[in-house]
Amino acid sequence: MTVLITGASSGIGESLAVKYAMEGHPLIITARNKDRLDVLASTLIKRYGVAVTAIESDLSSKGSALKLFNKITQSGLTVEVLINNAGVGLFGEFHKTDMEKEEAMIQLNITSLTELTKLFGREMVKKGEGKVLNIASTAAFFPGPLMSVYYASKAYVKSFSHALSNEWREHGVQVSVLCPGPTGTGFKDAAELGDSKLFQKGIMSVEAVTEHAYKEFTEGKEEIIPGAMNRIQTRFGKFISSKKAASIVRKTQERV
Ligand SMILES: NC(=O)c1ccc[n+]([C@@H]2O[C@H](COP(=O)([O-])OP(=O)(O)OC[C@H]3O[C@@H](n4cnc5c(N)ncnc54)[C@H](OP(=O)(O)O)[C@@H]3O)[C@@H](O)[C@H]2O)c1
Repeated sequence: MTVLITGASSGIGESLAVKYAMEGHPLIITARNKDRLDVLASTLIKRYGVAVTAIESDLSSKGSALKLFNKITQSGLTVEVLINNAGVGLFGEFHKTDMEKEEAMIQLNITSLTELTKLFGREMVKKGEGKVLNIASTAAFFPGPLMSVYYASKAYVKSFSHALSNEWREHGVQVSVLCPGPTGTGFKDAAELGDSKLFQKGIMSVEAVTEHAYKEFTEGKEEIIPGAMNRIQTRFGKFISSKKAASIVRKTQERV
């Protein structure tokens, strides 16, 4: 069962790659940083004896998902498990943040994820088997002042994943969505969250998120939320208005 993981050069993607290699699965790992991918690939090959193909891909550029799909299929590889993990955030008031960064985020978090799901998912539906894990966030449950585009992008990922899970179940394809809360990875720095209160407490380790995600995805669970506090917060969110939720979220991630 070959597993394709996007954004495997660090954080949750890298950790999932290690977990799948430990379990004996061949891997295709992608990200922009080819040096990091190559180091990870040779470590996993040496340590676990699995086949690992590393492919450089910037999924924030238009057409990149199709290019990646063509590269993989032309090299004769088939993907049985697709993990759409690559994603970025951006902190700041919307009228001040950089539009180019937000366009790149939408291309990465939404467009490429959608295109990869269509391209690989179509093949899975044809075969009548396969699995897709899309990485959203607890952010998917709320409006997110000071990270408005990121929260909205993750709400898209969650809604899209539940809809596809419903459509593809009858075709033998599992679609799940992983919604982690704050996790100790490179995300905080990449999202320019240095001044925010968000990562000051309640941070889960990347290993704990990975173990939880791997177990529940393997069991076929549709919505996976690692961490008891994250599960409580997202459930609570269903009982308050969007206006109230936005005001609470703003308080949790204001500048210190
Ligand atoms: N950490 C958290 O608190 C948290 C919470 C909820 C959800 N998430 C989600 O979890 C996922 C993984 O994030 P992480 O926490 O593991 O952060 P991370 O350590 O920053 O990892 C992000 C990964 O995405 C890749 N990536 C970034 N831009 C890319 C691009 N343009 N094209 C292709 N790959 C790109 C990065 O590799 P390169 O830089 O080499 O391209 C890296 O491998 C994201 O979808 C994020 O939104 C994270």
